[in-house]
Amino acid sequence: MRQTLSRLFPCAVAGLFLSVTNLLLCGSLTAQQALTPYSYSSPKKALVTHGAVVSAHPLASQVGVSILQQGGNAFDAAIATQLALAVVYPVAGNIGGGGFMVAHLAKNAATQSKSAAADPNSREIALDFREKAPASATRDMYLDAAGNPVAGLSENGHLASGIPGTIAGIFAELKYAKLPFAKLIQPAIDLAENGFVITAEEARNLNSAQGAFKNFNTVQPVFVKAVDWKKGDTLVQKDLAKTLRLIRNNGAKGFYEGETARLILEEMRRGKGIITAADLQGYHAVVRNPAVFSYKNYSIVTMPLPSSGGVVLQQMLKMVEDQPLAADGFESVKTIHLMTEVERLAYADRAQYLGDRDFYAVPVDTLVSPAYIHSRLAQIPARAGKSRDIKAGVLSPASEETTHLDVIDAKGNAVSITTTLNGGFGNKVVVGGAGFFLNNEMDDFSIKPGVPNMYGAVGTEANSIVPGKRMLSSMSPTIVLDKGKVYLVVGTPGGTTITTSVFQTLVDILDFGLSTDDAVNLPKFHHQWLPDVIYVEPGLSIAVQDSLKVMGYTVAQRGSIGRTEVIKVLPDQHIEAVADSRGDDAAVGY
Ligand code: GLY
Repeated sequence: MRQTLSRLFPCAVAGLFLSVTNLLLCGSLTAQQALTPYSYSSPKKALVTHGAVVSAHPLASQVGVSILQQGGNAFDAAIATQLALAVVYPVAGNIGGGGFMVAHLAKNAATQSKSAAADPNSREIALDFREKAPASATRDMYLDAAGNPVAGLSENGHLASGIPGTIAGIFAELKYAKLPFAKLIQPAIDLAENGFVITAEEARNLNSAQGAFKNFNTVQPVFVKAVDWKKGDTLVQKDLAKTLRLIRNNGAKGFYEGETARLILEEMRRGKGIITAADLQGYHAVVRNPAVFSYKNYSIVTMPLPSSGGVVLQQMLKMVEDQPLAADGFESVKTIHLMTEVERLAYADRAQYLGDRDFYAVPVDTLVSPAYIHSRLAQIPARAGKSRDIKAGVLSPASEETTHLDVIDAKGNAVSITTTLNGGFGNKVVVGGAGFFLNNEMDDFSIKPGVPNMYGAVGTEANSIVPGKRMLSSMSPTIVLDKGKVYLVVGTPGGTTITTSVFQTLVDILDFGLSTDDAVNLPKFHHQWLPDVIYVEPGLSIAVQDSLKVMGYTVAQRGSIGRTEVIKVLPDQHIEAVADSRGDDAAVGY
């Protein structure tokens, strides 16, 4: 019903910002519209002409669009949105975490900064600001004397944190931006200083983590409350505002050195963490060559290692490229069988072979070669395949807290950023006096071969802990080009489900011809080799689920999978931006 309504009345169902001057456009922010931190809702769709931002929070999307309207480009808007998310979406928005950016520089864009790209002639950019293992991290640091994992040690508390990369990433993004940094960070400072009202979902998130906040913090943060948080409460973050001002005034040194670094180190001392001043000062974001490959008539641009996305997404898409998906039907038994087996094969390789290429020789070229893809495809059985029979962790939807944002500007520059603290509120530790959460990204390493992490993913030596190494990720910010121009900007949070959700969203649009709204909002499914289960969202046809079970699959219904954000450039050059209905996500444009 919701999908039908949204097809007929996309703007009305989106519910906000209906332009009275142009009834064809929706989700548009007027030039003079001020930020509305005390009264806002979540427009799910923008159909606009100049630029758009989709993110997990309406205030962050509004901030991004207001920067576009002030003459900023997609990079300016992405930076401002990222910083705003660190304030208004503390469950995953962050300055204490890390992430990846994939971007496309429009031809002749005045903003082009070729010198920063790994390939200076490329207009496709991949930026890696993933966290790194501290210098004194060791391979077995999460194991007890008997060699068994200590429950929760890589997930909560000070030891779980990798060296944060987000602020280094933001200053690397700034090379492609136009506006002064002070302008980009000011909305975040104001939101932290003056506060904003929280949504029902944010209240739920904060309430569910109260016990962990009390357990793992050495200084009680503003997020701890004597009575339950509720929708409409105002969240003021003075310490975070102070930290953001230090970054505004001192650049990346305002985070990695000086007062903020001192507070991080004090926090580490109080909580027996291992991040040092040298770890902070030595952190750098890295510009990498993006993974670029063809799918039918399109170019897919996505994140290379240490994201598994570049290899896994390429393997999955290449395995289905010549299959008659459209004829088999959207989410039919035949389609889900094929896509599940493809996911199983790709995730088995992920577990075995993938890790930080700066530290481990990953056979990327072989894994994505046509001969290898062909040989893997030949292994798909007619009925349900079987993954290796080992005990693996159960996926935990509550922990899949990462966040994604898409931006496009009037010149055709596009930015796709996925950033994360890993679990919801990261390691649950707020740096005393500095007001931001630290990540628990160390859990994305393989802490022991075959032992599942919080997403149930297993790994080997390729993803073992080594000082300075980046932990393997699933984050797959992606851009699809059609004849060199941006067609789609896509991404999602969701731990190991990220890559399969991007895979599904792409084939939904490129093969099945689904509308953007349906590709974003219809039920998704996920298989990751281990555990050997197809996870499905509520709403996926029960008859199809029953048929899959008859074929030998274990099918388990779970909570929502990801929160996919998509920007699509329509043939008439209108920009269609769609935010996922699974959360407070908002699409805004002008
Ligand atoms: N922390 C989730 C990911 O990087 O895949």
